[in-house]
Amino acid sequence: MADTLPVDSLSIAAVVAHVDETKGSDDTGNGSVEAPYQSAVKALQAHGNNVSIQVWKVAAADSGETSGYAAISGAALKKAVKKAAELEKKAKKVAEQAAEQAAKDQAAAEERERVLEAAKKVILVEDPSLPTAARIKIRDSVANRGKRVRISGWVHRLRVQGKNMQFVILRDGTGFLQCVLNNELCQTYDSLTLTLESTITVYGVINELPEGKTAPDNHELTVDYWECIGKAPGGEEAMSNKVNENSDPSVKYDLRHLVLREEKAAGILKVRSQVMKAFRDHFDNRGFTEVTPPAMVQTSVEGGSTLFELNYYNEKAYLTQSSQLYLETCLPSLGDVYCLAESFRAEKSHTRRHLSEYTHCEAEMAFINFDDLLAGLEEMVCDVIDRTLAHKPSADIIYKLNPDFKKPERPFLRMDYADAIQYLKDNDIKKEDGTFYEFGEDIPEAPERAMTDKINRPIFLCRFPAEIKSFYMKRCPENRALTESVDVLMPGVGEIVGGSMRISDLEELMAAYVREGLDPEPYYWFTEQRKYGTSEHGGFGLGVERYIAWLLNLHTVRDACLYPRFTGRAFP
Ligand code: 4AD
Repeated sequence: MADTLPVDSLSIAAVVAHVDETKGSDDTGNGSVEAPYQSAVKALQAHGNNVSIQVWKVAAADSGETSGYAAISGAALKKAVKKAAELEKKAKKVAEQAAEQAAKDQAAAEERERVLEAAKKVILVEDPSLPTAARIKIRDSVANRGKRVRISGWVHRLRVQGKNMQFVILRDGTGFLQCVLNNELCQTYDSLTLTLESTITVYGVINELPEGKTAPDNHELTVDYWECIGKAPGGEEAMSNKVNENSDPSVKYDLRHLVLREEKAAGILKVRSQVMKAFRDHFDNRGFTEVTPPAMVQTSVEGGSTLFELNYYNEKAYLTQSSQLYLETCLPSLGDVYCLAESFRAEKSHTRRHLSEYTHCEAEMAFINFDDLLAGLEEMVCDVIDRTLAHKPSADIIYKLNPDFKKPERPFLRMDYADAIQYLKDNDIKKEDGTFYEFGEDIPEAPERAMTDKINRPIFLCRFPAEIKSFYMKRCPENRALTESVDVLMPGVGEIVGGSMRISDLEELMAAYVREGLDPEPYYWFTEQRKYGTSEHGGFGLGVERYIAWLLNLHTVRDACLYPRFTGRAFP
C-alpha cells in the first residue's frame, strides 16, 4: 500500500506517530511502531497538530496489497483534529471550573476561619437577674414548663437555620427535648463547631409549641444560656460515619457501645427493663420470694453438651445452665421462689434465638399439680404483658416497634407432643431428608417454628416422651412413658419457656440418675429434698430475650441484650 501525502499545514511534520486501532493503546502507547496509539486523537493530543500520523491499514483479501502503516487520510485527520480541539476545550473548562471551585473553597475556608476567630470573642454570660435554673431530667420537662430549668444531655440532632437560629434535639436517656438557640447563643465558637453526640448543658424555659409545629412532647426549650461539656468528633470520626443502620452486623456488635445510643436499641433496653420489673412485680404480687442462685456450679441441669467448663481452683466447675435445682431446694424454706439470673449455654445451635449467655426467669412452686403449673404459666405470660403495657413509655415503644402487637387470646392452646407429631404429618412438615417426624423424636427448631407460625397463637406443647426430656421430670400418671412437661411456643420466636413437674419420689429420682448416666453423688443436696419431706412441685424457665423478641417482633434475640454473647463473641 502506497503512502499518501499528509494534508496542508501538517505536511511538514517533525514527529511521526503510529496508530493501530486494534492493537494500539491510548493509555500505554507512545506512538512508536512497537507501541502505537489506538486513536489519532491521542496522537494529536500527545504531539500537537504538527505530527505525521501513520495509521495501520489492513489490506483487503484478494486486493494484492499488503497490510502496513500509511499516512492518515485527509478526512480522518480533519475529524481527529476537530475531536481533539473539542476535548481540549472541554478539559480547559473543567480545569477552569475546578480552579474556580478551589478558589471558592479557599475563600469559604478563610471566611469560616474569620467567623470562627470572631466567634471566639463571643462569650456567653448567664444573666444573673434570671431565676436560678432548677436541674431536671427531660422526662420531667412537661411538669416544668414555664419555669427556668437546666438540662444536660447529648446532642441527638442538630439543625442550623441561618446565622441566628440553631435547633438541637437533646437526649439524656430519659427522653428527647428540642432546644432553640437564637442570636449570639448560636454564634459562639462552640455553637459553630457543635457536633452530634457532644454533651451540653442548656438553661432556659420550656414552652408549649404553637399549633402546626412539632417537636418531642410538643414543646421546646428556649435557651438563654448554655455550656459545652464535651465535644464529639465530626467528619470521618463522627459516630454516624463509624456505624449506622446499614453497617455490617459484625461492625454493629463491635461498636455496640455506640449503637446503644440509637433510638431503637435504647427503646428495646427500656422495654427490657420494664419487662424485668413486670416479672418481679408479678411474682412479688403472688408472694414468691426472689433468690439469687450461684452462677458457678459443679452439676449440670440440662445435660453435659452445653456446659461451659471453668477451672475453679484446680477443680472442674461450670457456668450454670439453669438455677432450677437450687430453686427446688428453697421450697421448704422460702415457699414459692423465683429468680432472674444469667444462664449459660455452650450452644451448638447458631440461630437467631440462641445466645451463649441469657437472662433466665425461673420459678418453682410447691404442692401444685400439672394443671396448676400450666395455669400459672399462662397467668404469668399475660400478666407481664399487661404490666408492661400499663407503663405508657414502654407501651409506646412496643407499638412503635411492633405495630401489629395483640395481646394473646386466653386460654392458650394446649397440645400434646403426640398431637404435634400428628400435626406435622397432617400439614406435610417434614425432615430435611423428606421423611416425617415420628413419635419419640425431638422436634427441632425449624418444624416447631413452622407449626407455631401456622397455628399463629401461643401453644402449650405438653407431655413429651421421657427419653427426649431432662432427668428430673415427673412421669405422667396415665402414661409413664410421658412426662408432665411443657414448652411454651410463641409465633415468630418458637419456644420461650420450658417447664415441668419434678420427680418427687426418692427412688424414682435415683433410677433417673442411673438411666441418664449421671453420678448421683454431686447431686446429694438436690436428692435430699425427697428425703427430708418431699412434695409435689413444679416450675419453669423462661428466656427473657426470647420473650422480648416476641413482644417487640425482633428478628434476633441478640438485639434484646445489652452486650450479646453468642458463638465467637464475648466482647465488647
Ligand atoms: O428448656 P430449657 O433448657 O429449660 C431449663 O433450663 C429448665 N431447667 C428451666 C426450668 O424448668 N427452671 O430452657 C428454658 C428456656 C427456654 O425455653 C428458652 O426460652 C431459654 O430458656 N433458653 C435460651 N435462650 C436463649 N439462648 C439459649 N441458648 C437458650 N437456651 C434456653
